[in-house]
Amino acid sequence: MTVRRALISGCGAYLPERVIDNAEMAALVDTTDEWIVSRTGIRQRHVAAEGEFTSHLAVKAASAALAAADCQATDVDAIVLATATPDETFPATATVVQAELGMVRGFAFDVQAVCSGFIYALAVADNFITAGQAERVLVIGAETFSRILDWSDRTTCVLFGDGAGAVLLEANEGSGVSGDPSDRGILATQLHTDGRHHDMLYVDGGPSSTQTTGQLRMLGKEVFRHAVTNLSSVVGETLAKAGLETSDIDWVVPHQANKRIIDGTARKLKLASEKVVVTVDRHANTSAASVPLALAEAVGDGRITAGDVVLMEAMGGGFAWGGCVARW
Ligand code: ACO
Repeated sequence: MTVRRALISGCGAYLPERVIDNAEMAALVDTTDEWIVSRTGIRQRHVAAEGEFTSHLAVKAASAALAAADCQATDVDAIVLATATPDETFPATATVVQAELGMVRGFAFDVQAVCSGFIYALAVADNFITAGQAERVLVIGAETFSRILDWSDRTTCVLFGDGAGAVLLEANEGSGVSGDPSDRGILATQLHTDGRHHDMLYVDGGPSSTQTTGQLRMLGKEVFRHAVTNLSSVVGETLAKAGLETSDIDWVVPHQANKRIIDGTARKLKLASEKVVVTVDRHANTSAASVPLALAEAVGDGRITAGDVVLMEAMGGGFAWGGCVARW
């Protein structure tokens, strides 16, 4: 019996033009290139220009994904946009993107799960498609974290960057047979949150509490400690749901927060580093944009090809974390 799957048929990315390297960061706060590279693997980050909003980045990434999939915006049924840095408190940034793309039917909304937002958005979109409520869904991760950073706090401002990535999901008939190379599309997703960890990573403002945007606050060591444990366990759960083993993975596309978290998780899972897509050195942590930005790079340069098993994972504020495994 065949099953309805959500196939990733196109990827797109956009990074703002302005690049701030570690030397420039060292002129802003008391830090060094050596400290940042050795603790995080980050060498530079892109930062949105004045007047360049999350929706502007999202529209560019989404247009590239539609072009890659040879699909018109008018044929898209829904947009699910993951962001923690919307243009405005409301309406959803996804609706701004909808209008800009010229999509005059269907529906569009935002998902807020911070760094895990893209995995959450994929899970939501996958459910719409497998339930038969949509044929084509644009899933976007877009952020302007530069706008919520405390640029005088060296423990956080060196870690983040701006950007956007997008994928188009299209309904596809799969065999439903575990391990079958023709069973293409999203095979499983797994989501978790644990709200007890709010104080380890949060923004200290918002419309209801302070009526200000607020700035990002983080206990980096605590986040680090939870990240490797949570990420490796969610990878195991996601694979088990799909009836796959670690050895079945062709590519891991992790959230790009810190090279040490990426390496530590790969070691714990006994995954060869050659199978792990890394962009954190050039993009820094772009929150919900990081996984689709890395996907677009690995698809664009020909590493990820049809039939490959691709494992995506992320963790961030909440804590919220999740995994998604797809056959390309
Ligand atoms: N430059 C120079 N020195 C610094 C800087 C900096 N930018 N930032 C902190 N330091 C100092 C600290 O003040 C401290 O000094 P002290 O010993 O005199 O007090 C010293 O460096 C060591 O600081 P630690 O916090 O012990 O450094 P650590 O090795 O834990 O690395 C880091 C810090 C990079 C933040 C790490 O904890 C980390 O990556 N945590 C994960 C955070 C993360 O990735 N968050 C993203 C969102 S969540 C997610 O996406 C998974």
